[in-house]
Amino acid sequence: MQTIFVKDYDEMSKKAFEVLKEVIEENKEPVLSLNTGGTPRGLFKYLVEGINNGLDISNATIFNLDEYVGPKNAVYTVRTYMYENLFNLIQNQPKQAYLIDGETANPDQEIERYKELLSQNKRDIQILGLGTNGHIGANEPGTPFDSTMFLAEHEESTVQSTMKEYGITREEAPTEMFTLGFSEILDAEKVLLLVSGAHKAEAVKAFLEGEITPDCPVTALRNHDNVIVIIDEAAASLLE
Ligand code: F6R
Repeated sequence: MQTIFVKDYDEMSKKAFEVLKEVIEENKEPVLSLNTGGTPRGLFKYLVEGINNGLDISNATIFNLDEYVGPKNAVYTVRTYMYENLFNLIQNQPKQAYLIDGETANPDQEIERYKELLSQNKRDIQILGLGTNGHIGANEPGTPFDSTMFLAEHEESTVQSTMKEYGITREEAPTEMFTLGFSEILDAEKVLLLVSGAHKAEAVKAFLEGEITPDCPVTALRNHDNVIVIIDEAAASLLE
C-alpha cells in the first residue's frame, strides 16, 4: 500500500487526478470505476479541466461504485452527480458509461445486469472515499468481506452525511443504495482511496493502525496489493 500525505483537500484532489490521468494514458481502453459524494468533487474538477485540455477519454469505459434507490433525476442520485460533475461539462465523452438504475422495479435483475457488465470489464482503477464509520461504497460495518454487489441499508450516520451533502431533509434522504461489494471493489487492478477532513480522522486511524475486520470495512483494502491512499493533514491528525 502506498500512503501519500498531502496538505489539504485541493492537494489531495490534484494528486488523485495525477493518478487517474496516468491510468487513462497508460491503458488503451481504460476501465474506470468512479465514486461520488463530497470527497471526489475536486478530482472531478481537475478531470474535467484535463479532458477539456486534451486528455483523451474516448476509449474509456466508466462504471460507478454505487447508486441510491430513488427517482433517477433526484438531486442526490449518482446519475445526477455524474451529469453535473462530468458528462455535462466535457467536450469529449467516454466510449461507454454504465450507470446503475436506482429506479428499477426489479433490484435483483439490476444487480445481475450490472454484475455481468463488471465481469466483462475488469476495472483498471476503483476510486473510493471513506465513510466516518469506515464504510467504502455502501459496505457498512459488519458487511462480510466476500460481499458481491447488493442493495445496502445505510447506517444513520451515512443518512445524515447524505442529507448534509445534498441539502435534503430526513424524509427526502434515501436509506438504501446499490453498491459494489468488497469482491468487485478488490477486483480492480488499482484502488485509490481519498480522505480529507478531521471528521475522517478516527476512521483513518482504524484503517491504518487497527486490526483487519469487517467492523471497519475499509481495512479490507489492506488485503489488496495495489492500493494508493491519499490523506490530508486533518484526516491524518490522529495517527501515531
Ligand atoms: C460514494 C461512496 C461513499 C462515500 C463516503 C464518503 O460513492 O461510495 O462511500 O465515499 O460516504 O462520503 P463523502 O465523500 O461525501 O465524505
